[in-house]
Amino acid sequence: MKVKIAPSILASDFSKAGETVSLLEQNGADYVHCDVMDGNFVPPITFGAQFVKALRPHTKLPLDCHLMVLHPETHIEDFARAGADLITVHVEACDIPKLFRRIASFGVKKSAVINPATPVEQIFPAVEEADMLLLMSVVPGWGGQKFIPETLKKIETLRNFCVTHGRPELDIEVDGGITEENVGDVLSAGANVIVAGSTVFRSPDMEQTIRRLRGCKRSSC
Ligand code: DX5
Ligand code: ZN
Repeated sequence: MKVKIAPSILASDFSKAGETVSLLEQNGADYVHCDVMDGNFVPPITFGAQFVKALRPHTKLPLDCHLMVLHPETHIEDFARAGADLITVHVEACDIPKLFRRIASFGVKKSAVINPATPVEQIFPAVEEADMLLLMSVVPGWGGQKFIPETLKKIETLRNFCVTHGRPELDIEVDGGITEENVGDVLSAGANVIVAGSTVFRSPDMEQTIRRLRGCKRSSC
């Protein structure tokens, strides 16, 4: 499966957000991962739909909006109108079938996500309708944390479930603590969409880092 890289702008300088997303596009990213936090579902507050709208003219990359909010249903329309291409909602925060219908009604792609403490089986009901699924590999709320190794087993279990339930090619995204050292394990376990904040934005060479996160060892691939 094609490996896609979704740098999280959480780790970037927000005062240069427009330039940042355009730079991500030039450097070969596949998505812009936007971490929306409301101070309730997770303690910090980051940004909302207005900020996403401000990013929109600066890149053609799909905006992957990860909503870490307590009442996602009240924000779907705002993010859709702001230009989100994909909206990810937490299984812990909402009724997934209802939210998927609402997201799809605006012509936006839909994804569901579970926290590290949530058993992987709880995301299974979303497999049939989802455009992507996300597994958190850190407790959501902060960038720069350490990857939780138990996530690898969840990725394998989810990929196997997708294979045996008619969605073998479903995009499985993993978010949190991914580095050039552990990305190989994440991909081998069956994920194909990699969120990386600190690894991309702390890198002295963003283009090479994005390429290496894809598993490319040579400069030509
Ligand atoms: C955590 C966020 C992640 C995180 C990734 O709440 O959802 O997207 O910022 O950042 P790194 O790659 O630094 O762990
Ligand atoms: Zn995220």
